Amino acid sequence: MIIGVPKEMLPGERRVALVPDLVPNLTKAGLKVLLAPDAGTAAGFLDSTYEEKGACIGPGIFAEADLVLKVQPPTLEEISQMKEGTILIGLLQPHTNAVGIKALAARRIAAFALELMPRISRAQSMDVLSAISTIAGYKAVLLAANRLPKMFPLLMTAAGTVSPARVAVLGAGVAGLQAIATAKRLGAVVEAYDPRPAAKEQIRSLGARCMEIGLEAQEAEAETGYARVQSGEFYQRQRELMADWLASVDAVVTTALVQGRRAPILITEEMIQRMRPGSVVVDLAAEQGGNCTLTEPTGEVVRHGVVILGPVNLASTVPFHASQMYARIVTHYLEHLLHEGTVRIDLSDELTRDPLVTYQGEIRLREERLVS
Ligand code: NAI
Repeated sequence: MIIGVPKEMLPGERRVALVPDLVPNLTKAGLKVLLAPDAGTAAGFLDSTYEEKGACIGPGIFAEADLVLKVQPPTLEEISQMKEGTILIGLLQPHTNAVGIKALAARRIAAFALELMPRISRAQSMDVLSAISTIAGYKAVLLAANRLPKMFPLLMTAAGTVSPARVAVLGAGVAGLQAIATAKRLGAVVEAYDPRPAAKEQIRSLGARCMEIGLEAQEAEAETGYARVQSGEFYQRQRELMADWLASVDAVVTTALVQGRRAPILITEEMIQRMRPGSVVVDLAAEQGGNCTLTEPTGEVVRHGVVILGPVNLASTVPFHASQMYARIVTHYLEHLLHEGTVRIDLSDELTRDPLVTYQGEIRLREERLVS
């Protein structure tokens, strides 16, 4: 079997789906690994290093490979170059990429979207969303620190005492907890809020203050561990109760998401107006509609003296480690699928079944979840 790793062509994408250190895991399993020239260069992995580890470098990846490893969804052009029946593993954005998913089905590609991996203990080493959120939470705090006209730590100097920055984190899932840990490491005073009761202990265990805003969410957590959607009145009340708090902090990192929904609105323009001039909001929910009404995805907005950042694809800004983490996840998944040197698609196994979005010419996602 030939495993093909193309160079990612999406502008700004610097990650690669396989790193040199993991090539031997695949070659030892009897697979041939073929990479496009410069596939890993933007992430700091040279062609020569891949070759030393046993990979081949060459053109025509899509036409050659039996199995393609990608980061971003393939373009229509790339799909048209794939052999019928190719296996594809990547971040395929299945719910917002209807055209691509239909093209994959038409080409009879067996396409695995890693975002759909069930979040169960058995699949923890294949949890791509947690890896991406970890990076995003870390990087969001660095963006805030970089943009803030203040320093994060308490400093006692001959020129006087500098008081520490106050950072609020909204949403304490994977990204939020990493944001808390990073802001703490930089010396900020950190406060956080999440409606899931389980998050409270996790916030405290990182040395941050858990904000009790006096609002009880209805059955805040689903069996899956994700937050449940709340009523419009809940979000309205949450905004009212958080307004004073946010007006008193220097930086806010928002990470609040509700699975399968637009991100909840936690910060309105009126709340921004009350914040200190120079303060910074980093909205990690920008791609899902934003937690702040003023957020522009990929952009920076300055309103009422407050900087609002809506970064997307932060993982690509640290492509070395992001590729390393991603490649480990992909390799674990491939090892899960492989049986005696070839991929076996066992639909009775949820780790195989759930991420499989197209197979044998069929789209396996529910129609209403397929949006262009
Ligand atoms: P996520 O990315 O869907 O959401 C981020 C955070 O936003 C969550 O903590 C959520 O409670 C919070 N949120 C929702 N509405 C909010 C509101 N109105 N105000 C403030 N915050 C709000 O979640 P993520 O980070 O992917 O994971 C959340 C939980 O899922 C984890 O803490 C864990 O319990 C579970 N999980 C389980 C895994 C497993 O393998 N078993 C792996 C990763 C997460």
